[in-house]
Amino acid sequence: MSKTVLLILGASGDLTKRKLIPALSTIYSKNMLPEELIVIGSARTEYTTDEFRTHVNTSEEFCKCLYYYTGLKNIKEYIYSFGNITKIVVFLSLPPSTYKQTIEDLYNENLHGDNVSIIIEKPFGVDVYSALELEKNILKYYPTKSIYLIDHYLAKEPVQNILIFRFANRIFETNWNRFHIESIQINCSETIGIEDRAKYFDKSGIIRDMIQSHLMQLLTILTMETPKSNFQHDIEIEKVKLLKKLKVINFVRGQYNGYTNEKGVDSKSTTETYAEVEFRIESDRWHNIPIYIKTGKAMERQGTEIAVVFRNSDNPIFKNDKLQKNAIIFTVQPQSGIFVDLVNKVPGWGVSLTNANMSFCYSSKFSGNIPDAYQRLLVDAINSDKSLFAGVEETIEAWRVIEPALQNSDLIYYDRGKNPPDILNKNPIDFNNYSNLC
Ligand code: BG6
Repeated sequence: MSKTVLLILGASGDLTKRKLIPALSTIYSKNMLPEELIVIGSARTEYTTDEFRTHVNTSEEFCKCLYYYTGLKNIKEYIYSFGNITKIVVFLSLPPSTYKQTIEDLYNENLHGDNVSIIIEKPFGVDVYSALELEKNILKYYPTKSIYLIDHYLAKEPVQNILIFRFANRIFETNWNRFHIESIQINCSETIGIEDRAKYFDKSGIIRDMIQSHLMQLLTILTMETPKSNFQHDIEIEKVKLLKKLKVINFVRGQYNGYTNEKGVDSKSTTETYAEVEFRIESDRWHNIPIYIKTGKAMERQGTEIAVVFRNSDNPIFKNDKLQKNAIIFTVQPQSGIFVDLVNKVPGWGVSLTNANMSFCYSSKFSGNIPDAYQRLLVDAINSDKSLFAGVEETIEAWRVIEPALQNSDLIYYDRGKNPPDILNKNPIDFNNYSNLC
């Protein structure tokens, strides 16, 4: 019987244990993986297969298809020792600085050909130059079609749904422009700090870690023109067109107090753990409409949300500046849903207006069974489906856009568990109001 191999490089690391193995074990238990799948973890750490199985601490059933191989030397022989292998998917769960060398090593170990694909985690480069260099180096050994770039936000169900929400619902599609929309606000607050990722994070900062990838992906999906089809290639064409018109107008960087005392962080570090960035899109549809992205570690609350805020009615009879404006709120996590804020009449004599909202919660509409992002991406990569992976061109273009915000600038400081004030966005939506609606 033909077998598929998933080779995880960097298998002794955090991502493998925290995200990949749990995702694989879940999809394995749901029979969504090829029957004959062999998962080989590999790293420099000298584990035996048994020690690796203990290290990742997964189900007994899934352990049966889990193996370990130290290093890369002669890996091909090891892989083919399992029999008739028809497909090899390599997952680079490694520090980005090692991607270039690892790709070369894989090639030199003769792991190439039509049946080999490589999954690369973000970040792809640290700026435009390094991303272009990395692309050039990869293309020396592997064709674009073998490369799968992960941005796991793209595989989150509520993120996939933004495209459908925008383009399949005529009531919103026709109003999706500067004549009706006043601002777009994207927020991702995390309560956790940098945990044990100082080595990576202190060199990266939150703008590279979250904005250039996940949050700018949300921005482009929210603002791009209609793609020709639902295929990744056509969607990427529209995202790239949008990114070419996107500019950073202003940005604020912050750091939580105590960050420089975290283990592994440089005591003089000026790396940002918080950022607020204001963008504009120079297009007919979006001219002069501010788009804000705000994100931080060690914040007061956990949540990824988007607000598309509409203009007030300009009819004096129905205008009431005290009321909240129409807004569409997408809550990506922890509770996924969509809320439409409306103005309504208060029942009774006379005419007075109030706010009310219409809500759609994933938890009540779709019971259970919403695949987590990594589950979806692993199944798709194994089945050679690229639709939820990021493209190299859009990734490089996003680096170009964000470049001005990568400079070292003054920091504002905030206490752990407290949000810094919004500085650029004068009318921020309070997403806390939506956190318990589902
Ligand atoms: C990762 C970032 O890509 O995404 C992390 O490196 C961040 O810093 C994480 O915590 C957030 O992902 P999620 O799915 O928990 O929102």
